[in-house]
Amino acid sequence: MRGKISYFVTMHRIVVLGFMGSGKTTIGKQLAENLQIPFLDSDHIIAEKAGMSINEIFAAMGEQAFRRMEEKVIEDLSALPEFVLAVGGGMPAIPGVMERLNQLGTTVYLEVSRYELLRRLLKDRSQRPLLKDKTEIELKEYIDQLYHARQSFYVKASLVLQNDALDFQDVLKALNLR
Ligand code: S3P
Repeated sequence: MRGKISYFVTMHRIVVLGFMGSGKTTIGKQLAENLQIPFLDSDHIIAEKAGMSINEIFAAMGEQAFRRMEEKVIEDLSALPEFVLAVGGGMPAIPGVMERLNQLGTTVYLEVSRYELLRRLLKDRSQRPLLKDKTEIELKEYIDQLYHARQSFYVKASLVLQNDALDFQDVLKALNLR
């Protein structure tokens, strides 16, 4: 019998999700670089398509229109074989979207404590339409509110990683990439 050569090709589609400030872009880019596959960001895809920044989209069209654009991103990506996708913090909380993201690829929730989120977001609010006009106290209350509203969606991810101080090697290990 003649020998048969098999080729095993592993294709990766990884979706990184979590609150604003949870480290999706940083971890997502590192993962994409490590796997040598494209890094995509739902906010960038939407902004590029609309020819406007996320702040401008919220101001001109409102949040509901933005959420519809977020849903459309999933459809647009379903034909792509490989990527690491970081999704905007609110996308997984659109009804039905977590289920669709779980079909799209391996979903990874970067869980960060509210204390750490507040610390990070206080420094970095101006580019975020939902946060930019909030005082420190308002921001703290808003994070608490969002945490309650979104956590139940986020934990539907295939993997939940604590990211207050996550080491990239731990991410690779959790994904069986090391
Ligand atoms: C949002 C998160 C943002 C962006 C928009 C709304 C949210 O993305 O999609 O400002 O509702 O949490 P990041 O989580 O990447 O900051």
